[in-house]
Amino acid sequence: MVMEEKAKKLLILYASETGNAIDAAERLGREGERRGCPVSLLSIDDFDPSSLPEQEIVIFVVSTTGQGDNPDSIKVFWKFLLQRSLTQNWLSRVNYAVFGLGDSSYQKYNFVAKKLDKRLSDLGATAVVERGLGDDQHPSGYEGALDPWLSTLWKALYQRDPKLFPKGPELMTSNKSLMDQPKVQITYHDVAEGTLSIPDVKLLEMQIESTRFILPGKLSGKYRPDCFLKMVKNEPLSKAGCRKDVRHFEFEAVSSTVEYEVGDVVHILPGQDAAAVDAFIKRCNLDPESYIRVQPKDKENDQSYDLRNALKVPVRLKTFVELAMDVASASPRRYFFEVMSYFASAEHEKERLQYFASPEGRDDLYEYNQKERRTVLEVLEDFPSVQMPFEWLVQLVPPLKTRAFSISSSHSAHPNQVHLTVSVVSWTTPYNRKRTGLCSSWLAVLDPQKRVLIPAWFQKGSLPSPSPSLPLILVGPGTGCAPFRGFVEERALQSRSGSTAPILFFFGCRNEENDFLYRDFWLFHSQKGGVLSEEKGGGFFAAFSRDQQQKVYVQHKMREQSFKIWNLLTEGAAVYVAGSANKMPSDVLLAFEEIVSKEGGVPKEAAVRWLRALEKAGKYHVEAWS
Ligand code: 2AM
Repeated sequence: MVMEEKAKKLLILYASETGNAIDAAERLGREGERRGCPVSLLSIDDFDPSSLPEQEIVIFVVSTTGQGDNPDSIKVFWKFLLQRSLTQNWLSRVNYAVFGLGDSSYQKYNFVAKKLDKRLSDLGATAVVERGLGDDQHPSGYEGALDPWLSTLWKALYQRDPKLFPKGPELMTSNKSLMDQPKVQITYHDVAEGTLSIPDVKLLEMQIESTRFILPGKLSGKYRPDCFLKMVKNEPLSKAGCRKDVRHFEFEAVSSTVEYEVGDVVHILPGQDAAAVDAFIKRCNLDPESYIRVQPKDKENDQSYDLRNALKVPVRLKTFVELAMDVASASPRRYFFEVMSYFASAEHEKERLQYFASPEGRDDLYEYNQKERRTVLEVLEDFPSVQMPFEWLVQLVPPLKTRAFSISSSHSAHPNQVHLTVSVVSWTTPYNRKRTGLCSSWLAVLDPQKRVLIPAWFQKGSLPSPSPSLPLILVGPGTGCAPFRGFVEERALQSRSGSTAPILFFFGCRNEENDFLYRDFWLFHSQKGGVLSEEKGGGFFAAFSRDQQQKVYVQHKMREQSFKIWNLLTEGAAVYVAGSANKMPSDVLLAFEEIVSKEGGVPKEAAVRWLRALEKAGKYHVEAWS
């Protein structure tokens, strides 16, 4: 009997923060495919680390962020790899290569790539080539190192096993024709009978299963939403004319019941601006009313986005664009410009696009594209001679992403409802163009009278729901108060049927008059008998940063209450901090260190250790967002 040899393939795992590592990984994938090798390209959080020993060749493309930090997507994988139980020969059959993206102006340059390389080797894996380190400080960025590293990699892999690359290790490149084929296949159908009589929730569910959108790590692979939400209330929390528009939204579950605990996060799939969707369809000469099915050509290996669940019933093209293609918010990736250049009929446009796609044009592309947050629609309008086939657009337009929000209600207080506290995001680019956050601005103008169904997924965040007997110290300036509104609602309910532990809550905003979010709510629960009342051992403290000359922040109010804080800590309190990621969480930690040192009468280092132990014991939680 002849054993059929398993097809050779390359597994590429990337961990990206800003998207550069995705660009690099995708380029690796394309170059592998052009040599005739099947490729699986995955974000590292979509990969099951326990199956690593079964892989023959794995290429890692990993970024290092800030001060040597891991990108979020590699955290679970890295933790798995650090397990003591893994032996020295755990990966003895695995061949690997690591390419890192970093910035040599930081001390811990490419730290993530270096430690990953070392750990893989310690676990018995064999490096095919020496690790490559891309440097932002290089005149052509990480690509300065990627170009030579790739040619060494292809040669080394070919030498190891020529069967890997049926088309050889070298490629004849040509500027004239596009070397790649689109990875998706689209079939057009007549209007699908029956689809229109299906109830809207069911229809939306089916359509969603046939589209691709990015779900965050733990949820990926799970396409069916936990439920559909309908907005029932949309109220401003900040005064009109205030710099920031913060809103209180209430939603009701339509299809099934909602289930969540206080501190959880909900991911929602935003809708897109209808005018932008129409403009995109028109610009690309598409028929919005045609019915399509989208499938990957290489069903076996293509896991980069899961279209394999494609519907038995086709989807209306316009619906597909609305649900799956981010046409008016996200910026396209570099490869989009490369592919565009092949479909430009005007010579000057072709030249400019080729320049953008080349290593020399990298900085100018960054200025034009990412920094200005150009949208797909804007880019296509800037290059009117480009006519890209729809297959390419489906593949390259950034997928619509779900957005995550901290839930600001308690489910027990509002059965079947979810409340959110959302700051409507807007900013101006370096060239003074106004940009808005897709999801928050879409929600802000949503009319609760209209039946718009919003797909929603629930997830545990980093704030575990506390038991009623756990004393709490909560710090939540700005929209950081969102999860704590839920905490207070829940404890208020619990206190009706039994005794509950006290809560100290530190809130901060700019002005008492303008952006004191949920003022009446906090004041109500601070009254006699309330869960935030002094009489119950709790307290509510607000820092108004701009109501006086000197800035007053939550940490100032904390220092004023250091005795109370210390007392509650010694009674076993847990600390929860939520809010804008900037400097707030580290400033708040510093204040805690000072308080522990002062009130506990110990040196600073001992206080730092004490708080670290608190965190290890699962009693210091931070949920930060930007
Ligand atoms: P500011 O905008 O006046 O600087 C909610 O955003 C509140 O958090 C605002 O009052 C804001 O003040 C304040 N804030 C900004 N930076 C902070 C920090 N590092 N620590 C604590 N609060 C901060």
